[in-house]
Amino acid sequence: MDKAQQDALKKAAGIEAAKLITDGMIAGLGTGSTVRFLVDELGRRVKEEGLQFTGVTTSRRTQEQAEGYGIKIVDIDDVDHIDVTIDGADEVDKNFNGIKGGGAALLWEKIVATNSNQIVWIVDESKVVDTIGKFPLPVEVIPFGAGHVIKKFEAKGYKPVLRLDAEGKPVRTDENNYVVDLHLERIDHPQDLAEDLITTVGVVEHGLFLNMVDKVIVGDPNGPRVMTNGNK
Ligand code: A5P
Repeated sequence: MDKAQQDALKKAAGIEAAKLITDGMIAGLGTGSTVRFLVDELGRRVKEEGLQFTGVTTSRRTQEQAEGYGIKIVDIDDVDHIDVTIDGADEVDKNFNGIKGGGAALLWEKIVATNSNQIVWIVDESKVVDTIGKFPLPVEVIPFGAGHVIKKFEAKGYKPVLRLDAEGKPVRTDENNYVVDLHLERIDHPQDLAEDLITTVGVVEHGLFLNMVDKVIVGDPNGPRVMTNGNK
């Protein structure tokens, strides 16, 4: 699949997911290239159909895009609930375990997700996998002492790589932390790994989102299809 085909599938999933947002809702808006298509469609509906809703975003990037369309964005602490959050993902398996954070927004994404009544992911079909882990697992780490955390990960065979920007400087998240990507190739015991990561001092959050999502809208060449999680 080339990039144009993949973008077409992402766009179709984003447009389909936008239908879930109706007047008066409080919606969580995720981050990434698939979510950009979602926000474009919501912006179109605000302008052409008079859709009115309030958004909580998982990154400053998404906030800027949404506000550019006149969508009202508020701080997460200014709402008492979020009706539905629509976000992208890097990989998802049949047990609805996924990896997120390819765009370095995993911390805010997890905070918004855990405060949402419903979580929906939008992906192109290439992201639905048998076993997660081929996509490097992002881990958000406090800069102070990050070198020691990386050494601990190396000793455990996690193959950590500090994420750098185009200038060779460490990427900074919206909370000014670093991202360390773990090149694991496959993750057979995601719960154990999640527990190990979150109990490592210096780790703020990891990109394993295990059985959190309610529904995945998959961009498929035959049209968007929905995977519904019956075990949540
Ligand atoms: C952002 O940190 C990520 O979790 C994204 O949601 C994820 O990487 C999917 O991004 P794309 O839609 O750009 O593939």
